[in-house]
Amino acid sequence: MKGIILAGGTGSRLYPLTKITNKHLLPIYDKPMIYYPLQTLIDAGLNEIMIVSGRGHAGDFLELLGSGAEFGVHLTYEIQEEAGGIAQALGLAEDFADDDSVAVILGDNIFQDSVREAVQSFESGAHVFLKEVPDANRFGVAEIEGDHIVSIEEKPEKPKSNYAVTGLYLYDSDVFEIISTLKPSGRGELEITDVNNEYIGQGAMSYSVLEGFWSDAGMFESLLRAGQMVAESKKNIVESRFY
Ligand code: DAU
Repeated sequence: MKGIILAGGTGSRLYPLTKITNKHLLPIYDKPMIYYPLQTLIDAGLNEIMIVSGRGHAGDFLELLGSGAEFGVHLTYEIQEEAGGIAQALGLAEDFADDDSVAVILGDNIFQDSVREAVQSFESGAHVFLKEVPDANRFGVAEIEGDHIVSIEEKPEKPKSNYAVTGLYLYDSDVFEIISTLKPSGRGELEITDVNNEYIGQGAMSYSVLEGFWSDAGMFESLLRAGQMVAESKKNIVESRFY
């Protein structure tokens, strides 16, 4: 399986923090944001990783992360010319994926859990990671019946559950064929939720529920919360070392 970090988009919800810097380079406690999704993929056992970034700051990513040697992985870079949506950004990684399955993570998502087991046991179809949240209407929301997801709604006014679909997805190589059939949504983007609903329709979607903290970091409150969560977890680690 190959790893893909999607770090395009405009970061407009964090303006003016993102006026001259890319969102994914902003600090989350003691590291640039993109270090966290990168670490999640590395911890899952992936070592071939592509970073898809927007045009303006591609050089900054290269300067920050280089070849990946420092992290023991091999990094490849791709440019998304315009913010055409998460699924569009993923579509740019088709050649890189080279018929392999992919673990796709959004560059502004911070996960505490390890997803190694799900990644290592993934075979085909798609797999998403859910997290129970108090503000599900900000996310893709899973409607669950029994042990199946029956649909995902993107930012619904009235969420059908409290389970947000987090920004980490496992797909088989069919994903690129599915992306090629998508039409832009009302907000003019190719939506990852449409990709997921296609897999659900084919009966090929599985899921797991995260236990540790998870946050996106794309708005002022969530950026602050993500930093606090990381700081808190480090404090606990230090405390437990002194235990
Ligand atoms: O954080 C999880 C949520 O992320 C999911 O629950 C939603 O289903 C999913 O649509 C997404 O929602 P957001 O509205 O928060 O996505 P946003 O536009 O903020 O983009 C998140 C990341 O995706 C961003 O940090 C970089 C990447 N991205 C986004 C766009 C629009 C790209 O690489 N290219 C893009 O064109």
